[in-house]
Amino acid sequence: MNRRPFIAGNWKMYKTGQQAVQTAANLAGLCSNLTDRDIMIAPTNLSLPLVARAIKNTEVKLGAQNLHFEKQGAFTGEVSADMIKDAGGEYVLIGHSERRQYFGETDALVCQKIKAALGSGLKPVFCIGETEEQREQGNTYLILDKQVSDGLKGFGLEQLSSLVLAYEPVWAIGTGKTASIEQVAEVHQHLRSLLEKLFSKDLADRTRIVYGGSVKPENVKELMGIEDVDGALVGGASLDAKKFINIIKYNEKGI
Ligand code: PGA
Repeated sequence: MNRRPFIAGNWKMYKTGQQAVQTAANLAGLCSNLTDRDIMIAPTNLSLPLVARAIKNTEVKLGAQNLHFEKQGAFTGEVSADMIKDAGGEYVLIGHSERRQYFGETDALVCQKIKAALGSGLKPVFCIGETEEQREQGNTYLILDKQVSDGLKGFGLEQLSSLVLAYEPVWAIGTGKTASIEQVAEVHQHLRSLLEKLFSKDLADRTRIVYGGSVKPENVKELMGIEDVDGALVGGASLDAKKFINIIKYNEKGI
């Protein structure tokens, strides 16, 4: 099955508006003829409208890092799916491990957020991953299966066609430790079978499952060579356009 590669940059709480615009514009310039893959950047919410303008009519798509599950209301400090859409967002990260770890996001909340994203026409990038402790205790699949089945609870097949699943082992995020090729291959294959079990073979075949956790120009080619890896979710190495383009162009010679 030929799945369109999806390479995304999560800029976390880095870059002012001006810095985000600058990097986005540089990146868009470097991506001008890359029409065979989806490229996405997720700056802070404040920079969304600015970056949307900077990448208009280019190959770079826009995403947010989080949303609130209600359409509107008295939720101080929060931003809704409609607001992200209005600011030019097309994708939204949901359930990133930093949201789970520092902001107490549960699988049930993640499910509500995916529902809100889909309800507003945003494409969810649904992040899952085990901690080092969970892996060491042999609970990796117990955790991942629960995250996936609870996060996608109640959805019908037709609703999930735009979903991107991101496997990000928590112990590999921002640590410089990448999961081994064998570990990534095994988990991705497992996740695809899980999607088949929970939904259908067709959905499992079509859904892009991307890897995240210390992806860099030096390891991206090998990771992308794994059969069930359809892309990358990149943190630190996406902050610099020149570095990120070497990840985006993972299959070009000389990189
Ligand atoms: P990293 O972050 O590439 O800096 O490890 C990945 C992420 O948090 O999505």
